[in-house]
Amino acid sequence: MVRVTVPATSANMGSGYDSIGIALELYNVIDLAENDHIDISDKNGQYVPQDESNLIYQCAKRVYDECGKPLSGLTIVEDCAIPQTRGLGSSSACTVAGIMGANMLLGEPLDRNAVIDLAATIEGHPDNSTPAILGGFCVALLENGHVHHVRVPVHGAIDFVVFIPDFQLSTEKARAALPKTIDHHDAVYNLARAALLAGSLTTGKLENLDVATGDCLHQPYRFGLIENGEDIVREAKKLGALGAFISGAGPSIVAIVYKGDRDYITRAQELCEKLYPHWKAVQLRCDE
Ligand code: HSE
Repeated sequence: MVRVTVPATSANMGSGYDSIGIALELYNVIDLAENDHIDISDKNGQYVPQDESNLIYQCAKRVYDECGKPLSGLTIVEDCAIPQTRGLGSSSACTVAGIMGANMLLGEPLDRNAVIDLAATIEGHPDNSTPAILGGFCVALLENGHVHHVRVPVHGAIDFVVFIPDFQLSTEKARAALPKTIDHHDAVYNLARAALLAGSLTTGKLENLDVATGDCLHQPYRFGLIENGEDIVREAKKLGALGAFISGAGPSIVAIVYKGDRDYITRAQELCEKLYPHWKAVQLRCDE
């Protein structure tokens, strides 16, 4: 039996559409063992697909196939804290768990970069799976099946507060809402902000974070799919966040806050209780 622990991730961070992501201290813990049939269960009684349509199983099988090893079945036991379909990398965590688990069962035939490449290729974008594997804040670019990546140290003065709604939004639907082409001005708008974001997070130039997390490539098209999403971003900033944006494809919203602002989480929770009962606020550290 092998155990894989995979963190939640928040992709895009506003300006870094499909290229920037951060790992957060919230985990799925998955146990895998070879078996002569498929036996999939969830420790907390949550619904999980119990046949070959299970994403963890499919990704594990892909590793066995690519390594030319037969697989007749797996025992998979899931213990998942990452809420599903909320923009916090739950499907990426399954993809990574399947690949890493199978790789461990096979004696690590894939090196770290091959794991990163395969996970991003299966996902179609690298900004959840790369920080899920490496931890921390990552910049990643997927091209021709290969991820060019860097893990950038995050300045120690920040924390994250995640506003999670009680409704779901599929990544497929949130990606389908985006235009096929964009204006040159919009490309430059995000390019400058994504570069500024990486530099500012590293150096601790935190006063840049509000402008650096600005975005016109995906959020304006997605807010219409997230009831109260724009309100939460606005209110999160009013409460003192350094920046706030849609987490991944949504619907969750992430606020970057000063670590020293210990009351932020209380203010955020009061905001949800009073005005946005379909949302809850949770404080999470960056998974280093
Ligand atoms: N970058 C991806 C998107 C993340 O915004 O669609 C999906 O989790």
